[in-house]
Amino acid sequence: MPQLPSCGTLEPVTTEPLRVDIDRLTTDLRELSVFGRLPGGGVSRTSYSPADLMAREWFVARCTAAGLAVSSDGLGNIFARLSPAGADASLPAVWTGSHLDSVPEGGAYDGAAGVMSALECLRRLAEDRVALRRPVQLVMFADEEGCYRHLLGSTALTEGLTSEQLAERRGRDGTRLTDALSAAGLDPSAAADIAIDPATVHAYVELHIEQGPVLEASGINIGVVTSIVGIGGGTVRFTGRADHAGTTPMPARRDALRAAGHFLVRLPEAAAEISDRAVVTCGLIAVTPGATNVVPAVAELQLDFRDTTTPKLDALADQIIQVAEEAATRCSASAEVRFDDNVEPVHLDPAVEDIIEQSATSLGYSTLRMPSGAGHDAQNMAKIAPTGMIFVPSAGGRSHVREEYTSPEDLERGANVLLETVVSLCAAD
Ligand code: GLV
Ligand code: MN
Ligand code: MN
Repeated sequence: MPQLPSCGTLEPVTTEPLRVDIDRLTTDLRELSVFGRLPGGGVSRTSYSPADLMAREWFVARCTAAGLAVSSDGLGNIFARLSPAGADASLPAVWTGSHLDSVPEGGAYDGAAGVMSALECLRRLAEDRVALRRPVQLVMFADEEGCYRHLLGSTALTEGLTSEQLAERRGRDGTRLTDALSAAGLDPSAAADIAIDPATVHAYVELHIEQGPVLEASGINIGVVTSIVGIGGGTVRFTGRADHAGTTPMPARRDALRAAGHFLVRLPEAAAEISDRAVVTCGLIAVTPGATNVVPAVAELQLDFRDTTTPKLDALADQIIQVAEEAATRCSASAEVRFDDNVEPVHLDPAVEDIIEQSATSLGYSTLRMPSGAGHDAQNMAKIAPTGMIFVPSAGGRSHVREEYTSPEDLERGANVLLETVVSLCAAD
């Protein structure tokens, strides 16, 4: 029978090993998936949308019902704190969490699995009156999915964003972040300069679905994440000339969208030139003036590109510029490329990885050390505190789609590993 680490318990209410209640956890996830649910499955719960706001309200009520001390900031990051009997409140806390927002037409597990597993862990610690040396802090990061900026909430918490930086952010649909915050009942002036003191965080651990096929394909229970990919983003704007769709001969056109087409088909080889892990995606195109009978004058493409190191990300950015210019020249158009700040790649903390692996092994689960190709708030937290991530299998390796699914059995294993890991981190100096 696996034993808890040596932090011990004060007046334990049971001698049973400490485990999550998987029925309660899956019920939570099912209730949460109502917010933004799509006909036919999946959720659209983009940041600060009505569905996101309702989910937050529900989540705060769940945390309050669990007896946790709940607080939030102007950006909508939510914190729920457990101060166990005997804990030294002056010690840095062990943090755990993830996000509740989703991509448009996404799944019910990305982020939600981590937040709700974290809540379940805190509830079990409270219910069994497990005496820990340190407080445990649950965090729900705002806008992880980058409606306004990749990993917005955790970037603001770890780096601080000024009011000027917040004022210039716009969402995918052009809405100003500050307007979205006000409409959501948040206070934009309280969203600036909210960086936390790193000294208040002892360690951070996040459970997440893998979002890829590796664990399922290899029959492994738990992924122990070693590194997280770097993410670049930006806009490529092709400008040509609007003309009549019926009267302008094909060779005489300066079609911005056709330039975009040439650009897009070159991206796979551009990525392959950098590395076999490099990826480039365009998931959003805006065409103006936007009529079937007008040759497109402007095509604006929003890009996401990723690789494992900063030099490779920079080389990929150079490739993108070169390919965009060549495509524009081919269509007598021009190209303007603007990049956002990178989300830097990180290595996670080997000591936290060891604790996760030991926790999983003690529970009898198989593990695999693996990199993450998806971005996570953990990559920001890793800059200020020892950080680790626990991956659970994703059915079919599918994520950012309605079909996203992780079985209760896999979720239970992951949540129990999270619970053991939090307890161990609380015990550590
Ligand atoms: C987050 O889900 C990302 O990898 O974009
Ligand atoms: Mn995601
Ligand atoms: Mn996620």
